[in-house]
Amino acid sequence: MTDSGKKTLGRIFSGAQPTGDMHLGNYLGAIRNWVRLQEDYECIYCVVDLHAITTFQDPRLLAGHTREAAATYLAAGVDPKESILFNQSQVPAHAELAWIFACVARMGWLNRMTQFKDKAGKHREKASIGLYSYPTLMAADILVYKATHVPVGDDQKQHLELTRDIAQKFNSDFGVEYFPLVEPLILGGATRVMSLRDGTAKMSKSDPSDYSRISLTDDPDTIARKFRKARTDGEPLPGEIAGLKDRPEALNLVTIFAALADRKRDDVLADFAGQGFADFKAALTDLAVEKLGPLTAEMIRLKDDPGYVDGVLRDGARRAAAIAEPILREVRDIVGFLRP
Ligand code: AMP
Ligand code: TRP
Repeated sequence: MTDSGKKTLGRIFSGAQPTGDMHLGNYLGAIRNWVRLQEDYECIYCVVDLHAITTFQDPRLLAGHTREAAATYLAAGVDPKESILFNQSQVPAHAELAWIFACVARMGWLNRMTQFKDKAGKHREKASIGLYSYPTLMAADILVYKATHVPVGDDQKQHLELTRDIAQKFNSDFGVEYFPLVEPLILGGATRVMSLRDGTAKMSKSDPSDYSRISLTDDPDTIARKFRKARTDGEPLPGEIAGLKDRPEALNLVTIFAALADRKRDDVLADFAGQGFADFKAALTDLAVEKLGPLTAEMIRLKDDPGYVDGVLRDGARRAAAIAEPILREVRDIVGFLRP
């Protein structure tokens, strides 16, 4: 818990899965905002390893990926003294509340979740029960801390609505005013980053092509090569954003430039109007190397110091549990379980 006394806007909870290489989309869409929110909110950030195993994870890799995700947040500027940083499986309260919520949520609600439909694809019968009930665990993550705000991308909005439905049904089933209704925090600064190979697909860890994404561990030569090979069209850059309609790849590169430079896209275009992509890509590479260089260097340093990262996660788990356990005890009383 922080004792700085200035965190008046509420309690934040957010998480991301340790399923592999973190990329520029994770940074500009999520992690960078997490860092900024620390100023005004009490923040709890979680590496959601229980969520990760809803699809099979190689046990030889999972711990490394968990450390790597934590190292990314630290390198980006999550301050482990100000905020709580931990991995989900170290705080059993998440799993316990998720079970209670699985008994509150209705099948009909979960049947509507589009992420399950996307991830399970044609093989619904073969998907794990965990993948299906994933949103009840996500609701437990948030409500076991009675978090008030959850910064997420668009893709998670439906899960947050479900979290509100679960909180409401729990309150009305048990006749209490216990769980708050959380607010999504869709931030203006959150940028949706698309694949460098296809401007209509999200930049993603699971894309088989390495050239589709800038990984946060890429060195300057790799970043330069990936931007050079990034798909574009033959037209010069327009003077304003309206001129990028139906040019998704060009729009994506301009969006990335503006996000990294913290400028408006129209202002960026004013500088490059009429130019071809060669110069623009060279400037984008310089900018990305400048902005990501310190983060990458810190990630590499932390990789050589796994003991430090493990210590941060252990300390975070202890502080997280200190908030979650009293809440879970009250929930057990509300449900009517015999006290231990
Ligand atoms: P994931 O990598 O799917 O576990 O997502 C972790 C966080 O990064 C979530 O908050 C996502 O909304 C965000 N994120 C993932 N991919 C992108 C992307 N291409 N653009 C913007 N945000 C993203
Ligand atoms: N479902 C989120 C994702 O795939 C990760 C997540 C798990 C999460 N629990 C959460 C995000 C709680 C916000 C709050 O990105």
